[in-house]
Amino acid sequence: MKEEKLRELLEALSVTEKIGQLIQVPGNMLNAEGQELGVRDELGIGEELLRNVGSTLNVVGAAQVRRVQEEYLKRSRTKIPLLFMADIIYGFRTVYPIPLALGCSFEPGLLRRLCEATAKESAAAGAHVTFSPMGDLVRDARWGRCLESTGEEPHMNAEYVKAMVEGFQKGLSEEGKGKGIASCVKHFAAYGAAEGGRDYNTVDMSERRLRQDYLPSYKAGVEAGCEMVMTSFNTVDGIPSTGNRWLMQDVLRNEWGFDGVVITDYAAIAELIAHGVAKDQKEAARLAMEAGVDIDMCTGCYANSLEQLIREGMISEEQLDEAVWRVLRLKNRLGLFEDPFRGADEALERELFLKDEFRALAREAAVKSSVLLENKEGLLPLTVKEGENRKKIALIGPYADRKDALGMWAIHGDQKAVVTIREAFEEMPGLDFSWTEGCETLLPEDYADLPSLIERGERTCWDEKKRAEEWDRAMTLSEEADVVILALGEDTIQGGEGGSRTRLTIPGDQRKLLSEVRKRASEVAVVLFAGRPLVLDEVKELADAVLLVWYPGTEGGAAIRDMLFGKSEPQGHLSMSFPRSVGQLPLYYNAFSTGRPYDGKTPNRFFSRYTDCPNTPLYPYGYGLSYHSAEYGPVQLDGSTLKRGGSITARADVTNTGYRDGVETVQLYIQDVTGSVVRPVKELKGVVKLELKAGETKQAEFTITEEMLRFYGKDMRYRAEPGLFRVGIFPDSSGVPEAEFTLE
Ligand code: GLC
Repeated sequence: MKEEKLRELLEALSVTEKIGQLIQVPGNMLNAEGQELGVRDELGIGEELLRNVGSTLNVVGAAQVRRVQEEYLKRSRTKIPLLFMADIIYGFRTVYPIPLALGCSFEPGLLRRLCEATAKESAAAGAHVTFSPMGDLVRDARWGRCLESTGEEPHMNAEYVKAMVEGFQKGLSEEGKGKGIASCVKHFAAYGAAEGGRDYNTVDMSERRLRQDYLPSYKAGVEAGCEMVMTSFNTVDGIPSTGNRWLMQDVLRNEWGFDGVVITDYAAIAELIAHGVAKDQKEAARLAMEAGVDIDMCTGCYANSLEQLIREGMISEEQLDEAVWRVLRLKNRLGLFEDPFRGADEALERELFLKDEFRALAREAAVKSSVLLENKEGLLPLTVKEGENRKKIALIGPYADRKDALGMWAIHGDQKAVVTIREAFEEMPGLDFSWTEGCETLLPEDYADLPSLIERGERTCWDEKKRAEEWDRAMTLSEEADVVILALGEDTIQGGEGGSRTRLTIPGDQRKLLSEVRKRASEVAVVLFAGRPLVLDEVKELADAVLLVWYPGTEGGAAIRDMLFGKSEPQGHLSMSFPRSVGQLPLYYNAFSTGRPYDGKTPNRFFSRYTDCPNTPLYPYGYGLSYHSAEYGPVQLDGSTLKRGGSITARADVTNTGYRDGVETVQLYIQDVTGSVVRPVKELKGVVKLELKAGETKQAEFTITEEMLRFYGKDMRYRAEPGLFRVGIFPDSSGVPEAEFTLE
């Protein structure tokens, strides 16, 4: 529809009809099947408003979307179509590895491709908007939502968010209506910095840290043209984001020029009361409106207060019109006025869901996201020899044959379609293996609500007989096998939203299983499932090999088989630091030196250190072994002075010293040695993935510019400061940059 006609439509709306457009309700209020009311069971939204709500969430499926839209439009005077939004975080029917895994690929192009594929599946299922990408930087593994983040690195997070927005929205504004889905960058802002890693907890930091580390990813999403931004549950400088005018107006809209739709997180307007900045829903609605929030997700605040606030002159009708205009314009951009059903098409669903092309992409992504943490004596890849020297393999562990390996936010995924490790092994000719689970993932002490989940029948648990049988069989298989593949990990329910943990070891009897199997087996390879960094000191000590696969998605088992037996080489490099102890958290590579940096060895307590644990992570950001091995030559700089507007090229030879071809993820780190404010001991400034044949040497080359060196200085201006810089080109973040240049 032409914008002038859209403007006329807006002007013809009553105040009630306008307010309706700013309300999002759970699907079951629109007679969608299988939809549970959210935290607000009684939203108190009257019939007239309900007939005019602007959007709904997590109603998907072409048939259901078409039915709900048809019924809605029949009852609507304005005939403004409903907007269907959903949590399509890392896949739709085809599920890819979790974002924290994808962050290990160091390949934004991969994320762009899988978001484009996801948009095709979900547009066919009638989705218009996805509540993704999540751009929250994370530094504390106690927070369950690390799962949804691409990691601890500001530069990489910005690259990934940009790529995901471009992937989701490809084709959105072109002539091909029904192509692509609108993306929603969340959770604005800094939700990942919740104190203590406890979900929904206070976030409080300097504006400098906020701008330097946490905002770049959201800004990259806005610059990539995301259609929506979601406010976060947390406070920013003492004011919850949802009512934070500085954050939403001054930064997001005025500084960054974001002109899209702002939606709250679930029930976040009403939560302004619990936060203590609003005395009731009316005041909460006013605060949100003044902060520039357009859509109220699943509360009655806007529905029951806006009309009164306008009558009392607390909110102007212009403010209301601005918000409604942005919602109508998004609907128009999606082509809903021409076709309210957009891409919803059952035949297309059948054609696209889990198609081979997407499954192949899921497998590629799992290989590029998996991280080889240990490989003592080169146990992996395993060789399946024929005849008498064929290795007997035992596959043991709760993740040996588990369909539930998609992570908490794969809510539209198809678990039945997941390839488990056992299934993948069965498909492998000549593989002589036996398998058993051995134990369950969880014990009651690992998850406080477990007993009530079992009581409510939402969770099953073994009886003593089954427990004993499984354990005994695991011990027997361990004794008989040449190699034991132990498939262990965190349980899905422990991660994701509300999944905060204070202990980060592998839960349940799994560590005991590892130590007992270790006593019996000659070789043990652990395949580790997790949604966050875990404390793996025992695993590191006891296992001969450790392959971290995160929650690897629909094709996880097949990718794991390909990697274990060498068809593919795990390419992942950690997107987040793995601690030795929970006590080290928050833990991140780009930390400040402090006035008393500890060298890790001097026996003196008067340094910034712990008396009972090293400062270093067990596995550092950027770390990942491979099946090939590599040697890095010294850094060569083509100049010692960087002039403003000029550049310096940094090069290093990288040689594949191994026996097989492989991909090396080469990382550029730069240290700004002295600044008007303290600067990190190093910062990742570039990555290149080199394909190296066995024995081959290639040169990794990076161009360093003044722009890369900018930061928020003492006066909060964003610019590079003259002085000494050091450069390193490494396989992970543990290296110390040494090659020097000076910025003029
Ligand atoms: C949840 C999450 C958010 C999600 C929204 C809608 O509480 O915080 O990430 O998109 O509600 O389900």
